[in-house]
Amino acid sequence: MTAVIETSALTKVYKDFWGRPKHKALDQLSIRIDPGEVFGLIGPNGCGKTTTFKLLLGLIFPTGGQATVLGKPPTDVGVKARLGFLPEESYLYHWLTADETLDFFGRLFHLDRATRKKRADELIERFGLAHARKRQIREYSKGMTRRVGFCQALINDPDLVIFDEPTSGLDPISQRQIKDLILDLKRRGKTVLLSSHLLGDVQDICDRIAILHQGQTKKYGAVRDILVQRDSITMTFKDLSEQGRRRIEDLARAEGARLVRSENTLETLEDVFLRTVQESGDGLTYRPPAKEGEERK
Ligand SMILES: Nc1ncnc2c1ncn2[C@@H]1O[C@H](COP(=O)(O)OP(=O)(O)OP(=O)(O)O)[C@@H](O)[C@H]1O
Ligand SMILES: [Mg+2]
Repeated sequence: MTAVIETSALTKVYKDFWGRPKHKALDQLSIRIDPGEVFGLIGPNGCGKTTTFKLLLGLIFPTGGQATVLGKPPTDVGVKARLGFLPEESYLYHWLTADETLDFFGRLFHLDRATRKKRADELIERFGLAHARKRQIREYSKGMTRRVGFCQALINDPDLVIFDEPTSGLDPISQRQIKDLILDLKRRGKTVLLSSHLLGDVQDICDRIAILHQGQTKKYGAVRDILVQRDSITMTFKDLSEQGRRRIEDLARAEGARLVRSENTLETLEDVFLRTVQESGDGLTYRPPAKEGEERK
């Protein structure tokens, strides 16, 4: 299988004004991302995430090492047509409307008029911007601008999408929608590379991750393998009586196990939040995604 992204000892040293090496922003990054994977790049501010994305997009050049994107060098023009990118800062033209923005980017990808219109309609609907599509982006809130950014990143129906902090600045409902969107892209066989400071989201949606610190790769692998505690087991029971619980605990002790915690399962705050807002019925809604083979309601 050809990797969608492959880097080998990819290194970037930024130069100062006089061209002298100043800062090693990325140090020997070697990762491989396969088709259909959701891959997360995490690490503290300044660890080299955005630098990695810029290198993969061919916006800056490496000081050392190599990268291939969809089997080609990042500067290849054919690659750009199959790639979508959401930068961390908005770069949209503020005097254009959402409609005009998508039409503009659709033209850059040489999409014909009908395709541009169809994709823009679908994306605007999906990202809840229908009421604002004729308004200039400068009048949008931060979250709305971010949504236009998503529409733009997906206008060419890319095979690979790179999202630099996709959920930053979004409310919990929108964050959940973005997570669902990413999982939906994965279901459709697309590959997603993202960075995020919301570690819970990364844990929820990424198959594999790399943890960077000062440009160096500190951890790299499947989320499950990185997080698993092999000497500890969690079981979840439904409808277990108090007596049953005591018997199971006694049984475990008899097996030589040390009971660390035995308590009711908690819901996540995200689930409670979404339900609470849903029940308040103020127009803000979160629709869970349709299951495989089921029509979206
Ligand atoms: N154009 C530049 N010139 C000089 N140094 C730069 C440049 N761009 C980034 N850097 C430095 O490279 C390092 C990595 O920056 P980068 O933007 O890749 O970090 P990041 O992981 O995306 O951080 P954040 O989480 O804050 O977005 C930082 O120390 C930054 O100061
Ligand atoms: Mg960044």
